Amino acid sequence: MQIIAHRGASGDYPENTLLAIEQAIAQGADAVEIDVFSVDGELIVIHDHHLARTTNGSGSLYQHNLAQLQQLDAGLGQRIPTLWQVLQLLAPTTLWLNIELKGDNTVAPLLPLLERAKRELQFDLSRLLISSFNHHLLAALKLQLPALKLGALTASMPVDYAAFAQQLQAYSVNCDVSFINQAFVDDAKARGLKVYVYTVDQADDIARMAQYGVDGIFSNYPARSQQRLNSQP
Ligand code: G3P
Ligand code: MG
Repeated sequence: MQIIAHRGASGDYPENTLLAIEQAIAQGADAVEIDVFSVDGELIVIHDHHLARTTNGSGSLYQHNLAQLQQLDAGLGQRIPTLWQVLQLLAPTTLWLNIELKGDNTVAPLLPLLERAKRELQFDLSRLLISSFNHHLLAALKLQLPALKLGALTASMPVDYAAFAQQLQAYSVNCDVSFINQAFVDDAKARGLKVYVYTVDQADDIARMAQYGVDGIFSNYPARSQQRLNSQP
């Protein structure tokens, strides 16, 4: 079972910052998950469209231009990173990257950025998983770049289990720990989908996910979750 650092090593460091991602790498995570919005055509790494929870700014990020956003403190003097900076940081590593699309204007700027990453950073696009709760974005991406791996997110139990993800031709179904059960995992696997579960930090949840046979968990504490997984009987 893989450990995906949720918003970087966000339990101990400011979420979605380069520092949190560097720490995820140092802690031996298999992958990093980040959230992205688009502002002025640039993809930036932040979870909320309201700035107050994670920065010293206020209001919506859409009320700011890119230069203003990049002056904000995202914690411990960190700036809001661009997706390009994250790709640069991860390019020389072996980790894979889950880019979760939050803003509904994120597909158009993503495509040229990925082409640039391939060209300038020799970034193998098979190291990417693009996910969203907005399945329209995933369907649009699939049309433009069919080889890209997609993660279909759901926060609750769908009536027809993982059928929606299979219809999207997704690589994985990414689900909330609060609803997942063995039947859902078995259904997803029978459809050829990987199963990734968020957010899994507690020892009992880690044990349960391992028992279900899920492929990976999103953890805010990657090193501690790996230790808890290793100490399972
Ligand atoms: O991608 C998994 C997880 O990050 C989805 O929820 O709200 O933490 O972005 P959220
Ligand atoms: Mg996320």
